[in-house]
Amino acid sequence: MDISRRGVLAGTGASMVGLALPRASFALAADGFLEITAEPSEQKLYKDDAPASLLWTYNCTAPGPEIRAKRGERIKVRLINKLEEPTSIHWHGIRIDNTMDGVSGLTQKAVPPGEIFEYDFVAPDAGTYWYHAHNKSWNQVVRGLYGPLIIEEDDPAFDMDHDLTLIMDDWRLDDQGILDLESLGSLMDWSHAGRLGNWLTVNGGSLPEYTLVAGEAHRIRLVNASNARILQLDLASLGAKVLAYDGQAFEVPKEAPSGGFLIGPGQRVDLLLVPEPGARMALREVSGGDPFDFALLKVTAGTNRQAPVPSLPVNALPEPDLDAATTLTLDMTGGAMGQMGALSYKGQPLTREIMRETGQLWGLNGVAGLPETPFFKVRKGETILLQVVNNTAFAHAMHTHGHHFRIVAQTLALVDDTGTWRDTFLIGPGETTTIAFVADNPGKWLLHCHMLEHAAAGMTTWFEVV
Ligand code: C2O
Ligand code: CU
Repeated sequence: MDISRRGVLAGTGASMVGLALPRASFALAADGFLEITAEPSEQKLYKDDAPASLLWTYNCTAPGPEIRAKRGERIKVRLINKLEEPTSIHWHGIRIDNTMDGVSGLTQKAVPPGEIFEYDFVAPDAGTYWYHAHNKSWNQVVRGLYGPLIIEEDDPAFDMDHDLTLIMDDWRLDDQGILDLESLGSLMDWSHAGRLGNWLTVNGGSLPEYTLVAGEAHRIRLVNASNARILQLDLASLGAKVLAYDGQAFEVPKEAPSGGFLIGPGQRVDLLLVPEPGARMALREVSGGDPFDFALLKVTAGTNRQAPVPSLPVNALPEPDLDAATTLTLDMTGGAMGQMGALSYKGQPLTREIMRETGQLWGLNGVAGLPETPFFKVRKGETILLQVVNNTAFAHAMHTHGHHFRIVAQTLALVDDTGTWRDTFLIGPGETTTIAFVADNPGKWLLHCHMLEHAAAGMTTWFEVV
């Protein structure tokens, strides 16, 4: 059964989930589960005359289908694994029940080839999220296993014609325009800035065009699904304002800073765009030196209604109590041009030999890789004040599972996010960022760099809430 989003939203039960097509054919099984099949599939990443790449996809398309649900609705997804290796799905940014967090090796067993896993959860907050593979993510997300997850407000402020999800990805293509698999897992990438690509897609398409209506307010949901690229977008030229970070709306939209606006791997930014009549706009990436217009935004004449700009309701996140907080420090070390000296791995000193064999070369508090015991264990409801110190020569995108946090303080600041809610924050070399959150979600939660090669190469730890 193919379903359109409108059809579903107009439908009945509280457990229904809507799907924006147009690309994916989506099966809603008789028992109300959305079926998502992870399987190899061909897709063009470069220009029309270039050959297709063999990707790993959800329902034969990268990104996978957009999953939409209302805040508080049940989302039921049956993952069917038709890959050659085990997999699982993580629902990035959702303050989810721990057993549904989808982390292979921590919250569930990876789903073997030929088997299924049923996810069933409720998303407590409206906003822009995404889902992606969480077993060997450096291999699986890089090949295309990700998709958008949109949680709608009780009363959506923007209608579907003014609400656009743009999920951006950075691919490394060979000189034929095919996904370069030869360099996958290269120690050079793992020890430096991660696997950086040379081509950007939006919603899996090369140089796509979108149409906006002059004078009307649009919500543009940007998701950075790159495995390592910090996208640097020229938003000022769009006249965009910022509505939300990582799913969490601001009470008053923020001005976009001039110069490049940084969006790290895993982060989301919702923009408010009211295009001028006749404007020709593009998503322009400027980190590579030459500006690259990788998606065009065409503007058609509108009704000139100048409808009032809708505002988004703010989610009710638990406010950290800084006076009563447990204070902790997370020391990030390792990588190329960094001090490797004191790292341990599985209880052993990380020698050059073990490093070469295992690819482990980054550490959190001196430990490379997922430790057997948690970084910290706290009682439900405690506030954690975490000082993160980047003693490496690279920028990172640190992500907590199961919780959003408030950025309390930053030194230097690659991006000034002080005061905002995030689930993933960028931290530049030599910076210290202090975050705070109420550890109110019981279970075992990852804390890792979202540059997927860094995570695989040791920059991963976990904490436990009891
Ligand atoms: Cu989006 Cu542990 O990741
Ligand atoms: Cu990193």
